[in-house]
Amino acid sequence: MTRAISLHDVSKVHTRGVRVVDRLSLDIAPGEFLVLLGPSGCGKSTVLRMIAGLEHITEGELRLDGEYANDLAPSGRDIAMVFQNFALYPNMTGRDNIGFPLRIEAPGADPGPRVDATARMLGIEDLLDRFPGQLSGGERQRVAMGRAIARHPSAFLMDEPLSNLDAKLRNHLRAEIAKLTRQLGVTTVYVTHDQAEAMSLGDRVAVLRGGVLQQVGTPRSVYALPHNIFVAAFIGTPRINLLRGLVRAPLDGAMTISLGKQALRLPEPHSLDHKLLRVQQGREVIVGLRSEAVRIATPADARPGETHITGLVEHVEFQGHEVLVHFNTGSRLAVVPELEAPRPVQRPPRRRRREGGVLDRLRKGAGGLRTGAVDVLDGPSAQEGPLASPEARPLGDLVVRTTPDFDLRHGMQVPLLVDIAHLFVFDQHGERISPAPARLPDLDE
Ligand SMILES: Nc1ncnc2c1ncn2[C@@H]1O[C@H](COP(=O)(O)OP(=O)(O)OP(=O)(O)O)[C@@H](O)[C@H]1O
Ligand SMILES: [Mg+2]
Repeated sequence: MTRAISLHDVSKVHTRGVRVVDRLSLDIAPGEFLVLLGPSGCGKSTVLRMIAGLEHITEGELRLDGEYANDLAPSGRDIAMVFQNFALYPNMTGRDNIGFPLRIEAPGADPGPRVDATARMLGIEDLLDRFPGQLSGGERQRVAMGRAIARHPSAFLMDEPLSNLDAKLRNHLRAEIAKLTRQLGVTTVYVTHDQAEAMSLGDRVAVLRGGVLQQVGTPRSVYALPHNIFVAAFIGTPRINLLRGLVRAPLDGAMTISLGKQALRLPEPHSLDHKLLRVQQGREVIVGLRSEAVRIATPADARPGETHITGLVEHVEFQGHEVLVHFNTGSRLAVVPELEAPRPVQRPPRRRRREGGVLDRLRKGAGGLRTGAVDVLDGPSAQEGPLASPEARPLGDLVVRTTPDFDLRHGMQVPLLVDIAHLFVFDQHGERISPAPARLPDLDE
């Protein structure tokens, strides 16, 4: 049996009126894997503890399978919780740790068969006779999961269960958790502050900020149509580029969004979304461009819907299969409060003015891209190292993801094409205005 979990306008107010969860409404379907995602302190654990019955609900309603459950004792909820700091009994073997809750629940019954079946499922049969001190972190976490699973609960609540593990093990166990919970078909609420984990695990992801739900949807839909700048910036790596812009929509002519030194020209005929942007004429907006919405290519290569700008290479991050290029396009960055300043990387040592300063051959081997005459920044003294500028200003204003085929170096001026179909526009309050919010996403919801 698996349960539906519903929260209706649930709030948690601590003494002295500190409201840490604010009117949260969520309907979690039986068998669903829902991830609660948000930065530290946004109330994720509090929500989980209210569902488990470990924390009193100040206002609102919790329903389990439609039944009012605010006052139900934790033991009556048939929900198992796995914590970040999972505690195993050190003086009990793995077998006894897993079987312990079963013995409490049904004192006369032999927990053996269930413990064995659970251990098989988790691949820990050969660890059952060891004590926690004889297990690695990942093995201990699996035993802790086993203890939750063996009970055959009707829902799992997992509070950052993998955050104490190293990255490799985390990835491995993440895949196991996904497989296991699908196999068991048990409703799961999983808390994490790691957006990659949320995206890879969740049927749906609920993004919390300061106790307030920002958006809930499939990983695809929250990535493709973030309701606001917070969700846009929190989800996706590298972080979405957020630039300050000004909408220019003369009655007769082409619509553009000025980015300061350059402008994004909205392709004609204007889409419905862009027509709606006309009302923003003369207003400041925030432009969101994911790193894959921009590619390195000359205007001559532009496909319909692409518009041309140029960028000065500030920094190249080689990642093996891809390269992240940090460009300076002369735009002003928009910073999302609560999230650390975007890409706070220190400047690498600048180079001296390059010969001619113009890109000759960008693409290795191939005939290469050409740009016109380019103003290359004056390189300051070569002694200026990364530590010379302690304020650690961000590198450039636009990060573009590309293949390693380009030979890009600091100081090059590069032609860029922006795919306007992937342009987000947010208003001054950070709400998405383009694509227009009124239309329902026709993704997979
Ligand atoms: N007794 C309390 N009184 C006042 N505030 C509290 C109390 N307990 C927790 N808080 C606050 O509630 C907020 C939410 O806490 P919670 O543990 O739910 O955050 P979280 O999202 O799980 O964070 P993390 O990712 O760091 O675990 C925090 O700002 C915390 O300081
Ligand atoms: Mg927490």
